[in-house]
Amino acid sequence: MILTVGGVKGGTGKTTIATNLVVYRSGLGKDVLLIDGDEQKTSLYFSTLRNEKKNGDAGYSCVRVTGGEQMKVEAARMASKFEDVIIDVGGWDNTSQRGAILASDIALFPFQPRTFDAWTLGRVQSLVAEAKVYNPRLRAFTVLSRADVRGSDNEEAAAYLKEAEDLTYISAIVCNRKAYSNAAKAGKGVVEIEKEDPKAAAEIRTLHDALYKSNSE
Ligand SMILES: Nc1ncnc2c1ncn2[C@@H]1O[C@H](COP(=O)(O)OP(=O)(O)OP(=O)(O)O)[C@@H](O)[C@H]1O
Ligand SMILES: [Mg+2]
Repeated sequence: MILTVGGVKGGTGKTTIATNLVVYRSGLGKDVLLIDGDEQKTSLYFSTLRNEKKNGDAGYSCVRVTGGEQMKVEAARMASKFEDVIIDVGGWDNTSQRGAILASDIALFPFQPRTFDAWTLGRVQSLVAEAKVYNPRLRAFTVLSRADVRGSDNEEAAAYLKEAEDLTYISAIVCNRKAYSNAAKAGKGVVEIEKEDPKAAAEIRTLHDALYKSNSE
């Protein structure tokens, strides 16, 4: 299955979610490829750090792919060689993201529960609608990311996201937690530092299960 973590706004937690899903899924024994489609190469840097920390055994493969057409072709080809492909793309509407979504079974769009982020929902809907013309099997999901641990903003944002009929809202909220950056700094996923923050680990498991069980593996 090919999963793209995308969106048209920077800093929503795409790379954090993509790398945590890859670490968790590969930890389940799946042969996973992480494709870094962002010129910032954060996923690639994370994977390099992880390989350094784990004596070359990150547990998954990571490659960088540039360009929309190349992304579409490579992702489709790699899907027959790996059990799972997860693609991290840059936070704006770019050709790599479009290529990734055209090859994907699932596109996941993290949204921060903030006004300026909510304003990008229409553009994400257009991106998905255009991709579906060429890739009718695509299923698109939204999730709250970098959400508040408390307060009413999450519920308000969730209600707004749920209104978008062509995007399915996943109620697996990823909150703002220090564990996410602490884990990244150590080349780990939050499921690997569960003792430090069991809630972060639970968030990633819930999101993972919602995505992969939705594809009836
Ligand atoms: N759930 C979270 N809790 C705490 N910090 C987070 C969380 N998600 C992301 N961050 C932090 O927010 C910043 C941006 O996150 P990240 O790089 O994952 O976003 P992105 O959407 O991939 O950004 P870009 O659009 O630049 O690729 C990073 O410093 C990251 O550590
Ligand atoms: Mg990123």
